[in-house]
Amino acid sequence: MKIKRVKGFSGEVTVPGDKSISHRSIMLGSLAKGTTEVYGFLQGADCLSSIDCFRKMGVEIENNGSVVTIKGRGLRGLVAPKDTLDVGNSGTTTRLMSGILAAQNFTSKIIGDASIQKRPMKRIMTPLSMMGADIESELGNDCAPLIIKGQALKGINYDSPVASAQVKSAVLFAGLYAEGETSVTEPAVSRNHTELMFEEFGVDIKCEGKTSIVKPSDELFAKKVIVPGDISSAAYFIVAGLITPDSCITIKNVGINPTRDGIIRVCRAMGADIIVEESSNQVGEPTADITVKTSELKGCVIGGDIIPTLIDEIPAIAILACFAAGKTVIKDAQELKVKESNRIDVMVDNLKAMGADIEATEDGMIIRGGKELHGAIIDSKLDHRIAMSFAVAAMNARGETEIVGAECVDISYPKFYQDMNKLIKL
Ligand code: S3P
Repeated sequence: MKIKRVKGFSGEVTVPGDKSISHRSIMLGSLAKGTTEVYGFLQGADCLSSIDCFRKMGVEIENNGSVVTIKGRGLRGLVAPKDTLDVGNSGTTTRLMSGILAAQNFTSKIIGDASIQKRPMKRIMTPLSMMGADIESELGNDCAPLIIKGQALKGINYDSPVASAQVKSAVLFAGLYAEGETSVTEPAVSRNHTELMFEEFGVDIKCEGKTSIVKPSDELFAKKVIVPGDISSAAYFIVAGLITPDSCITIKNVGINPTRDGIIRVCRAMGADIIVEESSNQVGEPTADITVKTSELKGCVIGGDIIPTLIDEIPAIAILACFAAGKTVIKDAQELKVKESNRIDVMVDNLKAMGADIEATEDGMIIRGGKELHGAIIDSKLDHRIAMSFAVAAMNARGETEIVGAECVDISYPKFYQDMNKLIKL
C-alpha cells in the first residue's frame, strides 16, 4: 500500500471492539451454562480464531457480524476436537486457551502461523506444569505447536516473573478447574479483563494489589457482554490527531479501563490537547469519547509500572515521539521483543528508514523528536500494529511511503484504512 502526506483530519470515528475482551467473551461464554450474547465483538482474524477453536470443541457459536451468540456447554462440557486447534496469529488464544485445555479430559494440539511458532510459551508451560498440567512443545523449543493432555490440576500461588495478562489469565483459567485456591502475583499489574469478566460470570475472584486470587468453580453463568471500543485501535487516531496539522478527531466509545489507559496519561505528560469524556461504565469497563487536536508536544520518559498499561500502544507512541520536541525514552519494555514481531527492532529500523533520530536499547528505545520524516519502504513484518503505526507516520511524511504487508491490519482492525480515509480533510 502507498500512502502520502495529508492536510489534516477531522470528524468522528468508532473503532472496533476490544480484542482482549472479545477473546475472553468467547472463552467464558463457551464454559458457561446458558446463552451468552456478545455485542461489539471484534470481527478481526485473531478473535475469529478463538471462535473457530471453541467451535471445534463442540460449542455452538453463531456470528452474524453484529451479535455473537454462544450456547455455553458448561465448565466440563467441551468435547475433544477432531482436528488441531489453529490459533492463526493469536497469542491471546494460544495462552488463555492452554489454561483451559490443561484441565480437560482429552488431548489437544494447538498450531498457529509462523509468528506464533516463534513466540515464547515457556511462560505458560512453567506455571501450568506446576499445577499438574501435561503440556509439551512439539519441537522442544518452548513454542507452538503445543500438545496438551488434560489432567487433574491443583491450585498454586504463582509469582510471575513477567507482567503479562496472558500468563496471568492462563493460570486463572486453569484455576477454575484446580483443587484449592490459585493466585498469581505480577511485578506490575497487567490488564484485568479476565478478572472483571470472571466476576460477571459468577466466579469467586478477588484482586489484592498485584495479586489475583481465584477459587475453583462448579458452574459459570452466561451473561450479556457489551464490548467497548479498543483503546489499542483508538491509539492510531489519537496519534494522527495530535501530530497532523489542522486536525481534530473524536473517537467514540473507547474502553478506558485503568489497566489500559497509559497512552492517555503519556499524551497528557507530553502536553497533548486531549479531552476524555466518560460515557458509560459497563461491568467495570468504563468507556469514553476521546477528542484530540493538533498539539505542540514535548518528549518524556516512559517506564516502570505504566508499561503494561500501554504495551500494545508503544509502536504508535514511538511515532508520536518523533513529532515531539526533545528526547523521549521508552524503557522497561523488553516485552516488545516477543510480540507479533520484535517491535523494538522493527520500529527502530523502519523509523530510521524514514529519517527519524531513534536508537534501540535493551528494553526500549530513545527518540529525539523534531526531525522531518520522509517516505520509505516499510516492512510491516506482518505485524498489524506496525502497519497501522506507519500508516499514521506516512500521512505526516514528505513524499510517498509504501507499507509492505499492509493487509495484516485484518488481525485487529479490518476496516482501518477505510476509517482513516474518511477523516482526511480534502
Ligand atoms: C493481551 C495481553 C497483552 C497484549 C496482547 C493482549 C491479552 O499481552 O500485548 O495484545 O488479551 O491478555 P501480554 O499479556 O503477554 O503482555
